Amino acid sequence: MKKQNRVLVVGSGGREHTLVWKLSQSRVVGEIYCAPGNGGISQFAECVPIKVDDIAGIVDFACEKEIDLVVVGPELPLTLGLVDALEKAGIKAFGPSRKAAEIEGSKAFAKDLLQRHNIPTAHYGVFNDIETARNFAREIKGPWVIKADGLAAGKGVIICLTLEEADSAIEEIMIGSTLGQAGEKIVIEEFLEGEELSILAFCDGKNIVSMVPAQDHKRIYDGDEGPNTGGMGAYTPVPAATPELMAEIDRIILQPVIKAMEKEGRPYRGVLYPGLMLTKEGPKVLEFNCRFGDPETQVVLPRLESDLGEIILAVVDGELDKLNITWKPQACITVVMASGGYPGNYQTGYPIKGLDTVPANDVIVFHSGTRVIDGEIVTAGGRVLSITALGNDLAQARENAYQRVQQIEFEGAQFRSDIANKALKGKNQLTGK
Ligand code: AMP
Ligand code: GLY
Repeated sequence: MKKQNRVLVVGSGGREHTLVWKLSQSRVVGEIYCAPGNGGISQFAECVPIKVDDIAGIVDFACEKEIDLVVVGPELPLTLGLVDALEKAGIKAFGPSRKAAEIEGSKAFAKDLLQRHNIPTAHYGVFNDIETARNFAREIKGPWVIKADGLAAGKGVIICLTLEEADSAIEEIMIGSTLGQAGEKIVIEEFLEGEELSILAFCDGKNIVSMVPAQDHKRIYDGDEGPNTGGMGAYTPVPAATPELMAEIDRIILQPVIKAMEKEGRPYRGVLYPGLMLTKEGPKVLEFNCRFGDPETQVVLPRLESDLGEIILAVVDGELDKLNITWKPQACITVVMASGGYPGNYQTGYPIKGLDTVPANDVIVFHSGTRVIDGEIVTAGGRVLSITALGNDLAQARENAYQRVQQIEFEGAQFRSDIANKALKGKNQLTGK
């Protein structure tokens, strides 16, 4: 019989609920803990009130509970060296080391890596001082994309339509210190046009295997209007990501990146998630994330046929090439229900009604920001729930998901009503067909 590993998942969002749900079905996973977890996660795992950036606290807890494997959800603990600290304490951990996580932690590092290894990305410059930054902005044509170097919780990218806007964005980030240390260095790059694609890939240091492709919906309102959010919904498969395109992405982006990281002494283990733009000249890298995407995980993992626990152990042990990872041929959609006011200020603590309704087959409600208070599930974050549904095709998955959305209520709830519409209209933004 296979060993039942004791697993600790770090994080508290819809991504972590999905990870815990999938790991609870694994042949090689026994007890599951989650730090700090949320109201939905507590149905599958014992939640422990340790913050994700409390590296010493997480390591101590893992030692005390004799945890066999730690699965890290968010980027912050990865960039702070959680995996290094766990390995030092003799505990297996899934996620990149601090040095490898720099691929997300520093946009300047990521862009320079891409350039050094001839991997397609937007033309760019990296700047520590305003004068040189402004001059560079005058050398490239607009729109201008100004990015803070460090982690900025999704707020680090400003797209500017005029040079005046670009100048004030540069000033705002570098002098106004709107983003603190993250903005001491900036990247300025050309604007890329096309459709965006999220590729999440398992990497064991030498081998990299893409999961099924997904697309996120970053803006708050229908029709991609309004401010950026953490992600308001996602779907898979993506019609634009044909098998030929996926093979090209593997050849010109994924394989070269994993080789580059190994060559530069930062072997990459965990999930690497490049955000891509499908331009007329081919796929180009917008950015790298050093972890699973949220809400992409909510649609990708329900399609995973293989055992997630076995895959994660193979990644940690550098044996990904021994596995054949298989996927369900179905489509999957997730619709995020968010608090009123999000991504700006919002109130929490509102009771959520309709969670007990017995859902149709293939419909799962992942919790993104909830808490249990006196036995009742209440809202506890900007993104509250990720209503997820499988279907034989995207149209059916969408119908299943929105049917479930209609049964759930909380004060001020908002959601997008057009998740996956782009794919369903069958229109490829690139070709217009
Ligand atoms: P990032 O955090 O770098 O992925 O940027 C966040 C979002 O900004 C992306 O998902 C894109 O929608 C947009 N973006 C970033 N870089 C560019 C670019 N060079 N051209 C066009 N859009 C971009
Ligand atoms: N879906 C966006 C992210 O996970 O960063």
